[in-house]
Amino acid sequence: MKIRPFAVEEWMNAWETGAKYNIAETCVDSVSLNELFELTGEDKEKFLEDFCEKRLTYGDIEGYPEFKKGICKLYKTIKPEEIVPTHGATGANHHVFYSLISPGDRVISIRPTYQQLYSIPESYGADVQIIDLKKETGYLPDIEEIRRLATPETRMICINNPNNPTGALMDTELLKEIVEIARSVDAYILCDEVYRHLTQSDEWCVSITDLYEKGISVSSMSKVFSLAGLRLGWIATHDKDVIHSCFSHRDYNLISCGMFDEKVAALALKHSEKLLERNRKIVRDNLAILDEWVRKEKHVSYIKPEAGTTALVYYDLSVDSYMFCEEMYRQTGAFVTPGDCFEQPHSMRIGYACDTETLKKGLNAVSEYINWKLEEQRNA
Ligand SMILES: Cc1ncc(COP(=O)(O)O)c(C=O)c1O
Repeated sequence: MKIRPFAVEEWMNAWETGAKYNIAETCVDSVSLNELFELTGEDKEKFLEDFCEKRLTYGDIEGYPEFKKGICKLYKTIKPEEIVPTHGATGANHHVFYSLISPGDRVISIRPTYQQLYSIPESYGADVQIIDLKKETGYLPDIEEIRRLATPETRMICINNPNNPTGALMDTELLKEIVEIARSVDAYILCDEVYRHLTQSDEWCVSITDLYEKGISVSSMSKVFSLAGLRLGWIATHDKDVIHSCFSHRDYNLISCGMFDEKVAALALKHSEKLLERNRKIVRDNLAILDEWVRKEKHVSYIKPEAGTTALVYYDLSVDSYMFCEEMYRQTGAFVTPGDCFEQPHSMRIGYACDTETLKKGLNAVSEYINWKLEEQRNA
């Protein structure tokens, strides 16, 4: 099976470790186990002692009940038996395609987004139709285009809400319109919701599972709960056939998720409100800082994100985005992601949910590089 290289992951793998100011990361500032215990007020010694007594079997094949109970709190209508734990949201997205997509199926997807959502179905021989999200329409999909592309052959519509990299947020009305189209052709909707709950207002951010019986929600512990190191995610849906198919396929590539990971995740989700409070504060405070920088820095522009942890920031210099990001990294240590990883030339993705000092210093370093580059171009 051939698959296109995963542009954003290749970029992160190559440069992330040595970055001085990492403002490319998409997780809300990750926490250590010590910080997690401090934040939740749980007894670390007791937790570790109890765990050390346990024999390391495969654990609960269909997921640790307390972990699934914690996930249910994040949805309005999802029950434990409607959840399939996976290896991160990466594993969840992959697993949905692996379980449900066959060669020739039509899959409608969007771009820019996390590349899995179009490159995996393409690699399985699906007829992938891309909807380009445009800056002019706030990176929201054109409903008429979805309607035109949706045919009886359409097996799945893939969306990502809130969106990585743009931070665009589809509201309930727009989601309902997509649901109505999907229902008319009996297609699934896969909604990658890894940034759900990271909103700029306190309104409940709806899940596709609250709106559609064939809606499939994918999420994880990585972004909203700052625990990417657990490598734990899930698929949630009311569709019993999907749950059955996913578990059946999962026997071939996972069996179960790790006992320790699920136990830590259960503890974190028991205190989800505390983690959410911390993380919403970070995304709200930091977006204000990013927004002020964009307003002051004459050579950049963006559509202000409505949710999530990332923004797509355009610059007006005549240099391609890989060159821009690589040269800036080498000169200043500021690490962002080239817009070309998302097929968005002359832009960079900034992850603004890192610790606030790193964000401030990183943005200063971007300005420093822009000024240097302008000077160089003037002297050329
Ligand atoms: C939209 C989206 N989905 C999935 C993932 C992968 O998340 P996880 O760490 O849970 O595998 C990412 C990570 O950047 C993402 O942005």
